[in-house]
Amino acid sequence: MGRCCYYAVGTLSLLLLVTSVTLLVARVFQKAVDQAIEKNIVLRNGSETFNSWKKPPLPVYTQFYFFNVTNPEEILSGEIPRVEEVGPYTYRELRNKADIQFGDNGTTISAVSNKAYVFERDKSVGDPKIDLLRTLNIPALTAIEWTHLPLLRDFIELLLKAYHQKLFVTHTVDELLWGYKDEILSLINIFKPKISPYFGLFYGKNGTNDGDYVFLTGEDNYLNFSKIVEWNGKSSVHITFSDFERVQGLPALRYEVPAEILANTSDNAGFCIPKGNCLGSGVLNVSVCKNGAPIIMSFPHFYQADDKFVSAIDGMRPSKDHHQAFVDINPLTGVILRAAKRFQINVYVRKLDDFIETGNIRTLIFPVMYFNESVLIDEETASRLKSVVSTTLVITSIPYIIMALGVLFGLIFTWLACKGQGSMDEGTADERAPLIRT
Ligand SMILES: *[C@@H]1O[C@H](CO)[C@@H](O)[C@H](O)[C@H]1NC(C)=O
Ligand SMILES: *[C@@H]1O[C@H](CO)[C@@H](O)[C@H](O)[C@H]1NC(C)=O
Ligand SMILES: *[C@@H]1O[C@H](CO)[C@@H](O)[C@H](O)[C@H]1NC(C)=O
Ligand SMILES: *[C@@H]1O[C@H](CO)[C@@H](O)[C@H](O)[C@H]1NC(C)=O
Ligand SMILES: *[C@@H]1O[C@H](CO)[C@@H](O)[C@H](O)[C@H]1NC(C)=O
Ligand SMILES: *[C@@H]1O[C@H](CO)[C@@H](O)[C@H](O)[C@H]1NC(C)=O
Ligand SMILES: *[C@@H]1O[C@H](CO)[C@@H](O)[C@H](O)[C@H]1NC(C)=O
Ligand SMILES: *[C@@H]1O[C@H](CO)[C@@H](O)[C@H](O)[C@H]1NC(C)=O
Repeated sequence: MGRCCYYAVGTLSLLLLVTSVTLLVARVFQKAVDQAIEKNIVLRNGSETFNSWKKPPLPVYTQFYFFNVTNPEEILSGEIPRVEEVGPYTYRELRNKADIQFGDNGTTISAVSNKAYVFERDKSVGDPKIDLLRTLNIPALTAIEWTHLPLLRDFIELLLKAYHQKLFVTHTVDELLWGYKDEILSLINIFKPKISPYFGLFYGKNGTNDGDYVFLTGEDNYLNFSKIVEWNGKSSVHITFSDFERVQGLPALRYEVPAEILANTSDNAGFCIPKGNCLGSGVLNVSVCKNGAPIIMSFPHFYQADDKFVSAIDGMRPSKDHHQAFVDINPLTGVILRAAKRFQINVYVRKLDDFIETGNIRTLIFPVMYFNESVLIDEETASRLKSVVSTTLVITSIPYIIMALGVLFGLIFTWLACKGQGSMDEGTADERAPLIRT
């Protein structure tokens, strides 16, 4: 019996080891898992992923934070501005993809993404229709910028004087975001119909889209799924790996929008307007895209910008945790677990001798508002994903389990072999013993 058992264990061990190595080399389980994920993730007309891509099930919120000006008189006499952060005013985004078209061989899909904003009172500090904020008179400052244009100059100067425009104005949150009819813009509109009489930081953005998107469907390689390859014909913003994180118990890789996109480098030379006139790191002149309004973009509280911008305003407290823009992605499934897109809108102001409205103000990048557009995976989806992840881990570890069993039986085999050898030696010794005695 011993001998038979001994050979059986040896053969079994060898078989298990050969099987596990074969499975590992042929990547059988890995391929099965990849195929399963691929089937889940690829965008095909009518698939479940397609429907959730078309109408994302996770809620996306945009939260607005304003900088309420507390010392307008002192600012006009040249002192440092003091601002108080007010917010959040939270809106839920209703997203809907329209004009969906599949490209060549189903490897690309293009669509526009429509966003509507619905106010969420219980996630906000107040009522946007009631809460008043004091901030810069952006339409007047924009009109002043337009005085560089011939013909308009005298007209605008006249208007600003006649209508006693002030540098600081008070409006409700709702007006500042979604638009109000401005006196000066209305008058300019009569002569220049292309210029809208309305002004708002998000004016006209409710229910509209920000241009064409092209997505990859993942049909050729599922790792490419939903990577935005084109946006309005321009290339997409790059993100860089920064940290390992955990979101709702799932491992995640954090990708950050790097400071370089706002840095004073040659890449952004197009924004140094006039040429060579860069404002410094961490701020971007987007005047061209805003109809000539002197709008400057940055991260909230001038996070990652030159210190001169932070210290020029009393009330700026940049922090990585609160003000970086990032995406947390689960490495195994490629699913986005959490993301926050955060940007601040500032206005460039300086003293202009021709315009008494600007008083003795310092030259400033003046913060008006920042927003945080964020998404977080909910617990239910996270636990579903967790079970996918653990099943995958179990399946892909099957070859290793087989290998471990092989090693175990190999050890038993060796042990049996040694024991067998040992007992044989003993036996001979015993047989010999009487001979020696006699
Ligand atoms: C998807 O399929 C449906 C029905 O089969 C069809 O009506 C629709 O136009 C297709 N959509 C696209 C984007 O091809
Ligand atoms: C798409 O199909 C065309 C021919 O129908 C082929 O030449 C091309 O290589 C295909 N592209 C991809 C990405 O498969
Ligand atoms: C945006 O549009 C939606 C639907 O048209 C509407 O329900 C919502 O109140 C609008 N939001 C704002 C801020 O006007
Ligand atoms: C903003 O400041 C003004 C003037 O100090 C004040 O009346 C108003 O209540 C403040 N707004 C908020 C929302 O705190
Ligand atoms: C798709 O993924 C493959 C392999 O990861 C990569 O070589 C290719 O460049 C990707 N395509 C695009 C358009 O990103
Ligand atoms: C921007 O960079 C250029 C060259 O790298 C440098 O000469 C210039 O002083 C910088 N401007 C600011 C505002 O930092
Ligand atoms: C921003 O760019 C515009 C042109 O697009 C230019 O007229 C303006 O002077 C620039 N502002 C600053 C502060 O450099
Ligand atoms: C968005 O960012 C703001 C500012 O850092 C923060 O206070 C807020 O909690 C963030 N919102 C979400 C949903 O993470």
